[in-house]
Amino acid sequence: MTQRSDRPHRALGIDIGGTGIKCAVVDLDDGSLASERFRLDTPHPSTPDAVAKTVADVVSNANYTGPVGVTFPGVVRHGTVQTSANMDSSWRGTSLFDTLSPLLPGPVTTLNDADAAGLAEVRFGAGEGQEGLIVMVTLGTGIGTALIYDGVLVPNAELGHIEVDGHDAESRASASARERRNMTWETWAGKVQKYLRRLENVLWPDLFIIGGGVSKRPDKWFDLIETRTPKVIATLVNNAGIVGAALAADISKKR
Ligand code: BGC
Repeated sequence: MTQRSDRPHRALGIDIGGTGIKCAVVDLDDGSLASERFRLDTPHPSTPDAVAKTVADVVSNANYTGPVGVTFPGVVRHGTVQTSANMDSSWRGTSLFDTLSPLLPGPVTTLNDADAAGLAEVRFGAGEGQEGLIVMVTLGTGIGTALIYDGVLVPNAELGHIEVDGHDAESRASASARERRNMTWETWAGKVQKYLRRLENVLWPDLFIIGGGVSKRPDKWFDLIETRTPKVIATLVNNAGIVGAALAADISKKR
């Protein structure tokens, strides 16, 4: 599809997370934010109705009509949420697409939050220009992962839940696990290293991109981790989900 040159190439990205719901209009030519970034706390309990209301509130600030991308912190297949480790369990089996479409100002595309972050980092961030298999790992409340091969996303890779030493990896190596279990940065880095080594032994990626909230403080832990695979810190940090959601909306518009 040809873009009309007089119209800005933009989409709205909405990032639904366990702690906050954020949105901004994204300039798809360079990944920059073309509006202010708006954020509200995620409601508790984070039921579909409560989240939908908060999404509508946050989007009402943006003064935008056009394609919209929305992330969710769980598996999203054909618009429907399949898993929801860190959101209200009533999301499971609920259509994110049907819940939000009537409230949003344009055609809606839905996807997993880590998948969105991966798309954004590969297009505009730490993975720009890199070929081959990129594995994005977000270390936050949970562990999110995205597999991107030569720019193409393989959606819903739930590699944050592989078993390491008899435990769900997310329960030991996420950023929230470090806080919850009072781990030193060194102890936690050891768990992240073990986790990444498990991933590289089965996937043999060309690059790891490590994101999530902890990517704002890499000096505390990043150099403590040794992997065979080259690894870089995500550069889009807080905005990766928003930018990736907007990119996904644009990709599906062109299909
Ligand atoms: C979920 C993933 C999500 C990740 C980060 C995990 O608990 O299973 O789907 O990407 O958290 O939010």
